Amino acid sequence: MAAPQLPPYDHQPRPYEGPGPGEVRALRQRYLTPSLVTYYQNPLMVVEGSMQYLYDETGRRYLDCIGGIVTISVGHCHPYVLAKTREQLETLWHTSPIYLHPAVATYGEMLAARLPGELSVCYFVNSGSEANDLALMMARLNTGNYDVIALRNGYHGGTPSSMGLTSHSNWKYNVPHSFGVHHALAPYPYRGPWGRDAPQAGAKYAADVGDVIRFATPGQVAAFFAETIQGVGGSVECPPGYLKEVYAQVRQAGGLCIADEVQTGFGRTGEFYWGFETQGVIPDIVTMAKGIGNGLPLAAVVTTPAIAESLKERIHFNTFGGNPISCTAGKAVLEVIDNENLQENCLSVGAYFKDGLLGLMDKHPLIGEVRGRGLMLGVELVKDRESKAPATEECVRVFERSKDLGLLVAKGGFYGNVLRIKPPMCLTKADVDFALEVLDLALSEA
Ligand SMILES: Cc1ncc(COP(=O)(O)O)c(C=O)c1O
Repeated sequence: MAAPQLPPYDHQPRPYEGPGPGEVRALRQRYLTPSLVTYYQNPLMVVEGSMQYLYDETGRRYLDCIGGIVTISVGHCHPYVLAKTREQLETLWHTSPIYLHPAVATYGEMLAARLPGELSVCYFVNSGSEANDLALMMARLNTGNYDVIALRNGYHGGTPSSMGLTSHSNWKYNVPHSFGVHHALAPYPYRGPWGRDAPQAGAKYAADVGDVIRFATPGQVAAFFAETIQGVGGSVECPPGYLKEVYAQVRQAGGLCIADEVQTGFGRTGEFYWGFETQGVIPDIVTMAKGIGNGLPLAAVVTTPAIAESLKERIHFNTFGGNPISCTAGKAVLEVIDNENLQENCLSVGAYFKDGLLGLMDKHPLIGEVRGRGLMLGVELVKDRESKAPATEECVRVFERSKDLGLLVAKGGFYGNVLRIKPPMCLTKADVDFALEVLDLALSEA
């Protein structure tokens, strides 16, 4: 079989004259924390990006189907975002919230306009972990309660308190953490007790949250935290009706409902702008990061005016949160999503991709499940469909071979057996054809 060919693309990468990958790797090993891992046996060095493509130091092009872990939303070095950000860079870099600056205020207005209900007060920070920390504190202050419910198999960050919300042993250091956090059953239809189409599957998984409230807390909680599609956990989508049932129980126990939209927001799931809309609910607090800034450090917590009041008890300050450069980039990202119909693109190209993956599932018994929405997809690999034993080593082989053939995806799931596909939202059907050819070949060889 001939090697799959990337679709033609008119971009000439600049000649690269810096240190080679061997030298960079040695410097990293010598000077950076050993806790940082790289993908691939021979780590890839990328030195340039253009839209959905990345280039290594030799000028070789790769199709980027993971976007720096779901962070490149509108495309690498998107020309409009670049022009706007460059203009701001040439004008003013930093102010801090002690002065007025138009970018942060107008950005707040633009972001709030994209959220439903009373979700209209924004607080800008720099990362998803920080956003979740702040949301957690806000919920505790607002409700006067301490206990929090999060979900097993969830990921909410790596700072001490967001690590407490995270529920994956391989992301949790062996230090005291998770104070007051209880992890309920993951609504994971492929591996859990009820499949996606089981009658009342959503309500059955949701019942566990009620049990946790009754048996593990004082009966009152501060918050319920969940990703609407678990990202790091392997693109796991909760069954229909789940969040509606959970939100009702949490609110009855005095808690706020917090949606972590760090991966699912901004139209990526196709049909809706926000992941929580796929479940027909409106949260009390929404946290966002990653794609919000298309690679610039920007994150946000958005809530209602009443909940935001809780933070007035003290001064809360964040040096870089809401800085002119990130906010200018954030505004440009919102405009590009609208002007280039990227949500619709996620819907149509995502459906085309998912159909293709389901076609590969007919051919390759290694695929246990294809799931997800829009351009947030997951392919879970199993040794056999009966036992569902995770095909972790095979997943590594598919992942490595795909890279060699020019396709970059991510691995996820607790067992590292899920291929995660979350490309820049400008992906085309021609790119999908290439990706499917690569995966077909890599799966055949694995
Ligand atoms: C769903 C989710 N929430 C929060 C975070 C933490 O974001 P950050 O790495 O920007 O702190 C991540 C990061 O992967 C994430 O996937």
